[in-house]
Amino acid sequence: MNGMLSGTGNLDERLERILFDQAKIRDCIAEMGSRITDDYAGGSLTIVAVLQGGVLFLADLIREIRLPLRMDSISVASYHGGTSSSGTVTFHQNRLPDVEGRDVLVLDDILDSGRTLAAIMGRIQEDCRPRSVRSAVLLSKKVNRAVPIEADYTGFEIGDEFVVGYGLDYQGEYRNLPVIGVLRKEWILPES
Ligand code: IMP
Ligand code: MG
Repeated sequence: MNGMLSGTGNLDERLERILFDQAKIRDCIAEMGSRITDDYAGGSLTIVAVLQGGVLFLADLIREIRLPLRMDSISVASYHGGTSSSGTVTFHQNRLPDVEGRDVLVLDDILDSGRTLAAIMGRIQEDCRPRSVRSAVLLSKKVNRAVPIEADYTGFEIGDEFVVGYGLDYQGEYRNLPVIGVLRKEWILPES
């Protein structure tokens, strides 16, 4: 395209390796959705997505769940631009999801150190009086766990590598990639 910077690279070309393509992600989410449908059969659910990373997962997963369902979201940050967790979880909102007496399923893109999910689950449990709280994550880096927490539903286990795409970002970008992959080193800034 005229006027475009040369050498910035197509978004897909910035990936060194694709871990999960669209078909793999779709199949995994369809399977998770049917398990959730079976597990909550006869009931209803409130899905609470963790912004921003959980948004694509939310949109695809809810269409695989055949139950009466409500949606809400929660906004937190545990990353501050780099490729490793900062260790603190900041809640960006005062209003917590209205889930009193309801079965809640918290969705996030990835379970890494576990601090984010642990903080959110704890907060909902303590302050929102739900009937139950469970969790679903698309990815899990088990080797990195700093807090003893596992999700009730996990899509894929991965190793200790930084991934982007399908909701996962590096410095706010790459969430719109339809696949999940590892960024080429030249697109990661040196950490100061
Ligand atoms: P935790 O609190 O360390 O479990 O971190 C969870 C959050 O860190 C996720 O919601 C992601 O936003 C972010 N995160 C962890 N690993 C990655 C990654 O490989 N790529 C992009 N974001 C990540
Ligand atoms: Mg996130």
